[in-house]
Amino acid sequence: MTRLDRIIRNERYQEALSQIDAAEQNRKFCRHTPEHFFDTARIMYIIALEEHLSVSKEMIYAAALLHDIGRAEEYRSRMPHEQASAQLAKKILTECGYTEEETTAITDAILAHRNEPLIRQSELALLLYRADKLSRRCFSCKAYEECYWSESRKNHFIVY
Ligand SMILES: [Fe+2]
Ligand SMILES: [Fe+2]
Repeated sequence: MTRLDRIIRNERYQEALSQIDAAEQNRKFCRHTPEHFFDTARIMYIIALEEHLSVSKEMIYAAALLHDIGRAEEYRSRMPHEQASAQLAKKILTECGYTEEETTAITDAILAHRNEPLIRQSELALLLYRADKLSRRCFSCKAYEECYWSESRKNHFIVY
């Protein structure tokens, strides 16, 4: 089993996913589902291939699968979800065999995914930031008008 397969089967990961699912049952805006995590992972990977970046698939998918995993904690305690996600990701990555160095690179990218000044610190962080936004289908969203994203941030055309 690859380390990525270990992440999706990890008990903490599974538990956090069900908590997010329960908390977002009636959310009309973008939800934080496995679909969002895989859309983000695949877009990151497409960009990495297109731009010949030297970031591995195992790092890309791990960052994408874990970047919003702390959402339930944010709903509970109001801790910003990039922080909650990074904390939980650290435990999960360690349990799934990622080295300390790899874990730090991934949690740094997660911590940066909502903080524009930080995203240029690493290729992984920038990729995660770009793909996270590009994964949202604003052009076919029923909650378009009520969404807090600015017009310039919303996706109006298909890119990936
Ligand atoms: Fe997020
Ligand atoms: Fe996200």
